[in-house]
Amino acid sequence: MEIKMEKIEQLRGFLQATDWEQWEQLERDQTKDIPMPPRQKTYPADSQLFDLVAAADLKVGQQSLKEIIGQRRSRRKYQQLPLNREELSYLLWATQGADQENDRLRTVPSAGARHPFETYLLINRVEGFQPGLYRYLPLEHKLLLIRHDQGLMSQVNQACRNQRFVGESAVVFVWTVIPYRTEWRYSILSHKVIAIDVGHLCQNLYLASESIGAGTCGIGAYNQEKIDQLLGVDGEEEFTIYLASVGKIDN
Ligand SMILES: Cc1cc2nc3c(=O)[nH]c(=O)nc-3n(C[C@H](O)[C@H](O)[C@H](O)COP(=O)(O)O)c2cc1C
Repeated sequence: MEIKMEKIEQLRGFLQATDWEQWEQLERDQTKDIPMPPRQKTYPADSQLFDLVAAADLKVGQQSLKEIIGQRRSRRKYQQLPLNREELSYLLWATQGADQENDRLRTVPSAGARHPFETYLLINRVEGFQPGLYRYLPLEHKLLLIRHDQGLMSQVNQACRNQRFVGESAVVFVWTVIPYRTEWRYSILSHKVIAIDVGHLCQNLYLASESIGAGTCGIGAYNQEKIDQLLGVDGEEEFTIYLASVGKIDN
């Protein structure tokens, strides 16, 4: 497959800063008094929700930050052990947990506090949860069941170029982006900062996982259509941007 140089140059341009001096003059939906989009996707009233351990009650993750940063690696070998509910609660809080006093703010930074992501979980081995597809509700700190599904791990494995460790993990985090949440405020300036934003989520997952004897591997090599279909998102207003597998480390 031949790649044209213009295409590469065009994509490089995406990494450069756009014209932030002008942004206040830019016509944006926010300046047109169009209401702010919801900070979290809505869900049917009869959905099955699962409580998680509240951030204030979490006892896990006591290792020093310096040690954790020093030992962080991408982990691709996992034990068959499950994570427990407290560990999963901790990982979700670390990556998207909302501040109790001000739910516009979360455990990770985001340009303009737009937080354009949703977190889906493909649960394989977590105590108290049947294998299946779930979504995290950061504002309630709860998990929403989307569907029980025993076949998810083989499907995600296949959609991630058959990288075997993905299907062998205890849980796969899949982050989707709803670009409009950021575009509403920043219009054409949104896309680079969205790409930067999502790295913060995964880095917190790496560090939080290490601190509970689990390991993470970020996954950028995936099939867009297949993962979007697996989640049931439309691929335009909401689509997958990044994944990460997690499991107890097998040395
Ligand atoms: C954005 C991003 C995408 C990645 N995608 C993959 C992937 O698809 N498969 C994989 O095995 N590792 C993936 N990695 C992990 C890198 O290969 C890893 O970070 C790198 O080899 C350095 O190793 P370390 O994380 O252990 O320091 C990804 C990492 C990042 C940050």
